[in-house]
Amino acid sequence: MSDNKAELTIDGKTVELPILTGTEGERAIDITSLRNETGLTAYDPAFGNTASCSSAITYIDGDKGILRYRGIPLEAFAAYPNFVEVTWLLIFGQLPNRAEYERFSRQLTENANLDEDMKHHFAGFPRSAPPMAILSAMISTLSCFHPQLLELDTPDQFEQAAGRLISKIRTLAAYTYRHSRGLPYIYPDPKLPYVSNFLHMMFSEPYSTYMCEPEVLNALNLVLILHADHEQNCSTSTVRMVGSSRANLFASCAAGVSALWGRLHGGANVKVIEMLESIHGGKQTAREYIEAAKDKSSGIKLMGFGHRVYKNFDPRATILRSVSEQLLNKLGVTDPLLEIARNLEDIALHDDYFLERKLYPNVDFYSGIILRAIGIPTNMFTVLFAIGRLPGWISHWHEQNSDPKMRIARPRQVYTGNPLSEYVPVEDRI
Ligand code: SDX
Repeated sequence: MSDNKAELTIDGKTVELPILTGTEGERAIDITSLRNETGLTAYDPAFGNTASCSSAITYIDGDKGILRYRGIPLEAFAAYPNFVEVTWLLIFGQLPNRAEYERFSRQLTENANLDEDMKHHFAGFPRSAPPMAILSAMISTLSCFHPQLLELDTPDQFEQAAGRLISKIRTLAAYTYRHSRGLPYIYPDPKLPYVSNFLHMMFSEPYSTYMCEPEVLNALNLVLILHADHEQNCSTSTVRMVGSSRANLFASCAAGVSALWGRLHGGANVKVIEMLESIHGGKQTAREYIEAAKDKSSGIKLMGFGHRVYKNFDPRATILRSVSEQLLNKLGVTDPLLEIARNLEDIALHDDYFLERKLYPNVDFYSGIILRAIGIPTNMFTVLFAIGRLPGWISHWHEQNSDPKMRIARPRQVYTGNPLSEYVPVEDRI
């Protein structure tokens, strides 16, 4: 196999396949000609060995625990956490200059309201409805109120659609929460920046305005930044798959919400808190939980641990652990779940089962501690993950849809069903 070609010999015939090399030296065998040249397809369920695309948005090195947005290391955003500028960076490829930042911020402020008729849709949901079900439905419903943004033929139309989704997802999330509690909706306040406005819509009352410490705003900006993109994860791949059929941006992101809901993906942040609460409630000790997680027959996993790509510490988990400790100290809050999380991490990281499988804390292990400290209810945690991940979904949809060579995604399969069979009329069936 030469540096830039791989040879594959099948049934005595040898074919050459190009080898692609990425910016950071990662290599891939280009099999786009495989079926034409050999009649065979490649088999890779769950795509653990398959690069579905090339992308310039996010770089992850799972062995070194590296995560960069458009080349900038994640850690660089911790000092000045500003979710809006990271949103622009991911979607448009570079940090915004002052004029771009002010234009985009104004667009987010001016588009935070929902059409009043959308309230009828909220009223139709039971108060106990899962927030992610409402969010997915209401993002799709947004397209009914913005028909002029279903087809995005110009950069300005795309920027408008992106701005409306990024702005209104806060309002959708806040109204979902308010509806679940039977509380009046709180309109966005145009004087407030992005994250402050979200917390205002969540927690203010008609007679009192929610105020919070600057540390809370910094912490939530950083939590959203840490969730903003993660290359070809399940929900982002879903957005790309749906977008490849030329489905509009709203429908593609609504599909991403549904994929993120899964407990092995974005839903894990809820399951982590439920795990910590079950230990706190005395149902079992941390050690007993760890032993159950190692026992395949238990069906239990150590939630917030492990990752398809990271075989080292998830850099986001490292930052989130530090932010959770700092925020609780600043707020003078003690959360017994944080101590339990630290204890679980310590036990796992000294246990061969986890070390041999390279299972480390992931983004979901500590995020819930921070959201609890801010007052976000547990059933809204994955909605917060979606608010953070929306810029990533939009950036990947845009990157794919801007590619003139884009084709509809349509994987193949290996058929293992019945051979040719006859139709048997019902009267002859046993
Ligand atoms: C996210 O892809 C992304 O980038 C996702 C994400 C993003 O930003 O978009 O990072 C966000 O989804 C984080 C992951 C959140 N999910 C969880 O915390 C759920 C718990 N974790 C596991 O379910 C699991 O680790 C996954 C789903 C995260 C990864 O699954 P993989 O890559 O399919 O790994 P695997 O199931 O093949 O595990 C390999 C081995 C198996 O044991 P063996 O068969 O080798 O004996 O490790 C074991 C697994 O049983 N294992 C675990 C475990 N995770 C893996 N055992 C106990 N507890 C766990 N958490």
